[in-house]
Amino acid sequence: MTETPKKLVELKDLSLTFFPGKAKEVKAINHATFDIYEGEVFGLVGESGSGKTTLGRTILKLYDPSSGQIHFDGQDVTKLKGKQLANFRKDSQMIFQDPQASLNGRMKVEDIIAEGLDINRLVKNKAEREAKVLELLELVGLNKDHATRYPHEFSGGQRQRIGIARALAVDPKFIIADEPISALDVSVQAQVVNLMKRLQDQHSLTYLFIAHDLSMVKYISDRIGVMHWGKILEIGPADQVYNHPLHPYTKSLLSAIPEPDPEVERNRVIQPYDPSREQDGQERQLVEVQPGHLVWATAAEADEYRQNQP
Ligand SMILES: Nc1ncnc2c1ncn2[C@@H]1O[C@H](COP(=O)(O)OP(=O)(O)OP(=O)(O)O)[C@@H](O)[C@H]1O
Ligand SMILES: [Mg+2]
Repeated sequence: MTETPKKLVELKDLSLTFFPGKAKEVKAINHATFDIYEGEVFGLVGESGSGKTTLGRTILKLYDPSSGQIHFDGQDVTKLKGKQLANFRKDSQMIFQDPQASLNGRMKVEDIIAEGLDINRLVKNKAEREAKVLELLELVGLNKDHATRYPHEFSGGQRQRIGIARALAVDPKFIIADEPISALDVSVQAQVVNLMKRLQDQHSLTYLFIAHDLSMVKYISDRIGVMHWGKILEIGPADQVYNHPLHPYTKSLLSAIPEPDPEVERNRVIQPYDPSREQDGQERQLVEVQPGHLVWATAAEADEYRQNQP
């Protein structure tokens, strides 16, 4: 690729501290700086409590950051108002982990899917609304008989398809999928990921795809960011991060991925990660060790990572 890809989301030194100054203070986002390019899938991984959901919600302007900047399509998200804010709300959508909890159980599927169409006045009349709902149902592998049913009448995988149709209804640019397959049976996880990938290609979407586990985001992501205690510790092309992880935390996450082979499982060595190594008072930053592959490191650690590259 010769031309520089356009940045859709730009985060600069973004922090969010819950309960600042109190004993229970949590640095949920700790000086995050990275960009998400238009048309890419950015996978964000890290264990529970690392700040992934908080980061996603802050990008969507559901939380105000404590400091730092967020730009979406060139605009400062924290300053959006009126028509620009309404456009931003339409252009950026979320798909949730638990499709059961995120769909209103008292609404018919057609009304769930059409809610964004109604709010944004994207359809002129009932016939157009019906046609659009049908188109969306078919897009996600459901059909018109499903339109008048309620969420509880569906399987987990089907419910997630409804959530995807709802997100796509308003023709967004950017979708944050917050662990969209974690609650699903293993047998349907791949189907939902494949559907999301196909829709991304067809609709030129940009995704922030959040997951616990690197193996889940490896296939769908162009780049992967690894988060721990609010900090981005490593960012790089998906295959690089997966096949040649640099940061010990990323190595530890990778060593914990279960494999279906009992022989492999018997011999598994989980590499523990000791976060105290980062608390030695030395100055660290995200350093580019290979083109596009950055790791949270001191200058000396960065040199070591460079020397150990394949
Ligand atoms: N609304 C909130 N008020 C106070 N603290 C919060 C709030 N939301 C999250 N936190 C705290 O911020 C930290 C990051 O939480 P977050 O939910 O972003 O993590 P996560 O990476 O999404 O975890 P999981 O994988 O379990 O979903 C945690 O310590 C959490 O307890
Ligand atoms: Mg979360």
